[in-house]
Amino acid sequence: MAEPKANVVMEKIVSLCKRRGFIFQSSEIYGGINGFWDYGPLGAELRRNIRDSWWNDMVRSRDDVVGLESSIIMHPKVWEASGHVAGFTDPMVDCKVSKQRFRADQIYFSPVIVDGKTVSYVCALESDRIAEELQESAETYKRKKAIQGKLEPVQPREFTEARPEEIPLVPSPATGEPGSLTPPRAFNMMFQTYVGALRDESAIAYLRPETAQGMFADFKAVLDTGRVKIPFGIAQIGKSFRNEITPRNFIFRSREFEQMEMEFFISDEDDWQKWHRYWIDWCRDWLISIGLPASEISEYNHPKEKLAFYSKGTTDLMFRYPFGVQELWGIAARGDYDLSQHAKFSGTALGYFDEATKRRYVPHVIEPAVGVDRILLAILCSAYHEDQMPDDKGKMETRVLLKLHPRVAPIKVAVLPLLKNKPNLVSKAQEVRDLLRKHMNVFYDDTGAIGRRYRRQDEAGTPFCVTVDFETFEGMKEGPLAGQSDTVTVRQRDDGKQERLPISGLLGWLMERIR
Ligand code: GAP
Repeated sequence: MAEPKANVVMEKIVSLCKRRGFIFQSSEIYGGINGFWDYGPLGAELRRNIRDSWWNDMVRSRDDVVGLESSIIMHPKVWEASGHVAGFTDPMVDCKVSKQRFRADQIYFSPVIVDGKTVSYVCALESDRIAEELQESAETYKRKKAIQGKLEPVQPREFTEARPEEIPLVPSPATGEPGSLTPPRAFNMMFQTYVGALRDESAIAYLRPETAQGMFADFKAVLDTGRVKIPFGIAQIGKSFRNEITPRNFIFRSREFEQMEMEFFISDEDDWQKWHRYWIDWCRDWLISIGLPASEISEYNHPKEKLAFYSKGTTDLMFRYPFGVQELWGIAARGDYDLSQHAKFSGTALGYFDEATKRRYVPHVIEPAVGVDRILLAILCSAYHEDQMPDDKGKMETRVLLKLHPRVAPIKVAVLPLLKNKPNLVSKAQEVRDLLRKHMNVFYDDTGAIGRRYRRQDEAGTPFCVTVDFETFEGMKEGPLAGQSDTVTVRQRDDGKQERLPISGLLGWLMERIR
């Protein structure tokens, strides 16, 4: 289970998200629905900025990647060919007493061995501290039962590896008592629906569990448009749906989420490792470009024996979330598996003819696949800060701020007239807002003390606040802009520093910093 400190940080982030309108529980007025989330006014902007940044860098700025928007519901045979109907399963375990469900690969257990003899079993849910938690539980068990002798170190194993005779002996994570866990069984995570008026087998269809299959199913259609030559990629952003057994950690694992995937097709004779490395580095650099700290990103190479039979290699970019280091972005070398499968199931040739060598072959693919929601959570977690700043009366107070990169910040600049009841301040501030709003998302706020307004923007992650005050009209009394009117104060979020700028130079100054 997660450390208490991690829980506190997550609670603060969840509460900020609700308070400031980033993320709400879906259908909250009806008690909510587990695994589904709504994005409020600030969350919708943040998501859009993440998507737009990725699309700009992945598609628009490159000559070798084109975009696609395929349908969410596709022909059911797509999912037979891809292997999802038969194999897109997680091992599920029921606790017969608590009626809770678990993923067997997220339950860990160990025998409690004293003087070489197994006296009981302990269990823990997946976390960064599995071995420590199991060891603590084993020590507690031995102490409570007053068992004499030497306790051996625990041997953590996944519940998927439990032998049939061990299953009734492993305590349930819900009740702490043994005897209520069922053996793991395969649970298909695809959401099923019916297309058309009939509700029989022939009408069954699925909500897509990944966007990737759209790129394979449309490979020939894109190729036939004649704009692309190997090596090239097809990219897509869109919703995916998985009936996760245990949605958790806020938006980290949900049942409806959004993916940004790209299938990069290369020659079967090309060096796939070179391309794999290229895309891992690209993804890492891109994460850093939107503000994630390099120190929190690591790489995890899937062990060969755990890869699907067709996969040549998969590397995950991992991020240090408050609840542990977890997968953010998977970069997989999938060989020619997907195109070959769709060629087999559809009867359509999905090869590529190389004009230069006059050779036909089935391209191989490198696939970087990431979830928008996981990036958004990583951004929020790394941006969340608390510091001390003086309030309006100069008294130090704790300030909560989101140090969002200006590229993704939902509001780029807030425009604030110093006082609401001075018509000249208000109309000048509105003039500045109208000047800027054609180029960026601007928020106009004239309610409350100026310090309180700054704090609200700090919590929203707004990098700049522009204040229109009396000196805007009277002219500056001193400093480099002495005597000059039509100036404003620009306050920077992270250090609270303020500087004076002429309104005529404001747009250029801001554009330079938000790009
Ligand atoms: N086409 C390959 C594919 O879908 P995946 O590892 O299952 O691979 C890719 O998913 C990415 O999608 C993950 O790295 C993660 O960022 C995101 N993702 C997967 N399942 C998710 C879920 N239930 N909730 C939120 N994001 C999810």
